[in-house]
Amino acid sequence: MSDIASSLAGKFIVFDGPDGSGKSTQMQRFMRWCTEQGLVVKEVREPGGTSIGEQIRQVLLDPKNDGMTIQCEMLLYMASRAQLVEQEIVPSLERGELVVADRFVSATLAYQGSAGGLPIKWIQQVAEVAVSGYWPDVTLILDVDDQTAVGRLNPLLDRMELKGRAFHRKVREGFLEQARSMPERYLVIDSTEDEDSVELAVKNAIKTRFCKDIP
Ligand code: TMP
Repeated sequence: MSDIASSLAGKFIVFDGPDGSGKSTQMQRFMRWCTEQGLVVKEVREPGGTSIGEQIRQVLLDPKNDGMTIQCEMLLYMASRAQLVEQEIVPSLERGELVVADRFVSATLAYQGSAGGLPIKWIQQVAEVAVSGYWPDVTLILDVDDQTAVGRLNPLLDRMELKGRAFHRKVREGFLEQARSMPERYLVIDSTEDEDSVELAVKNAIKTRFCKDIP
């Protein structure tokens, strides 16, 4: 195992950001690099990632459910997360694997809190229950302006993506605010560049955060 791999084994890293930020592509690239370094990588995605969670995901993203209250929405995201933590994340971390998650509590804070209007404190309280102490070692925010983000979206928008530009600007601001208030738990990556440049920026940020002694 390389020095980088030993520094990352047993860590929990989240990729998050506005819709269209390219986070899923970058997460795939990052995981490939980690596997090449000799790490066992566990990939999880939210909402979903378990059989129960995938059923919750369908309810959450179905455009027919436009009457869903913001409280219901937040609790469903957290319910899916609670299942994922206990069923998938904790066992992997205990085996010393690197866990890489596509979204986590940061997404609920940005979408249902900063943009949706729920008090941040309520979300943090429910999150304490859902994650049972398993907070990420770092959350990478792939940051992108809304103009660039819209151009990257699949034309078949889901219920969340249909919420409009003003909502998504607040989502972005919410992510950036989290990173400003907890710099030790977040890293912001400029995701407007081409995919190769963003991949390099992600690797460098992770090396600086976790592998300071490695040249
Ligand atoms: P995805 O685009 O990463 O598959 O995520 C699905 C949508 O769900 C996306 O629009 C963001 C939204 N979302 C929330 O609103 N709150 C959450 O807690 C999570 C995990 C996702």
